Amino acid sequence: MAMTTLGILGSGSGSNMQAILDAIDAGDLDARIGIVLSDHPDAYILERARRKGIRAEVIDCSGHRMKFPDVAQEETVRKLRDAGVELVCLAGFMRLVKRPLLDAFPSRILNIHPSLLPAFPGLEAWRQAVEAGVSESGVTVHMVDAGMDTGPILGQERVVVFPDDTPETLHARIQTVEHRLYPAMIGKYAAQLKL
Ligand code: GAR
Repeated sequence: MAMTTLGILGSGSGSNMQAILDAIDAGDLDARIGIVLSDHPDAYILERARRKGIRAEVIDCSGHRMKFPDVAQEETVRKLRDAGVELVCLAGFMRLVKRPLLDAFPSRILNIHPSLLPAFPGLEAWRQAVEAGVSESGVTVHMVDAGMDTGPILGQERVVVFPDDTPETLHARIQTVEHRLYPAMIGKYAAQLKL
């Protein structure tokens, strides 16, 4: 099977992108990252990528706090195609993907979400879990559709919520699971698609 070229979209620190890179370096994931894109010029994910010599660029969403404007999505599609991307991985990307991008990569966009979906979609799912007083949450890897964290689920793993957890301590444990689950699911899904 040929190596899969991934495109990563992220808005924040990029620890999941780092975990994907580490899995590639360890020989656990037969892939390369062709490009990393962010809607925030100062997102640490861009710096992490550049340090590894990976093409890292900003998608201009200025003037839009939450929306992912069509023109920005079209620009994203152009950049992903130009980098030869076969599978798009959202890694802490905080805007809703819609038609221009979904149509260009049908069944080729994955996301990682820090809860057991369908519980706690949206922002800061770890905080939602602590505030709801649940005894377990977790991590979900799913295919992206036009809804908010609603696409078909590919894999999930549970994380216990302790009575004394704060949003921060829970998120830290969730991230440990994310960093193992996401690279594994990306490899499995790419193999399923015969990429
Ligand atoms: C991760 O916990 C990811 O699951 C979450 O943002 C964090 C990004 O961390 N994503 C969402 O909440 C998407 N709805 P990272 O930048 O260190 O990978």
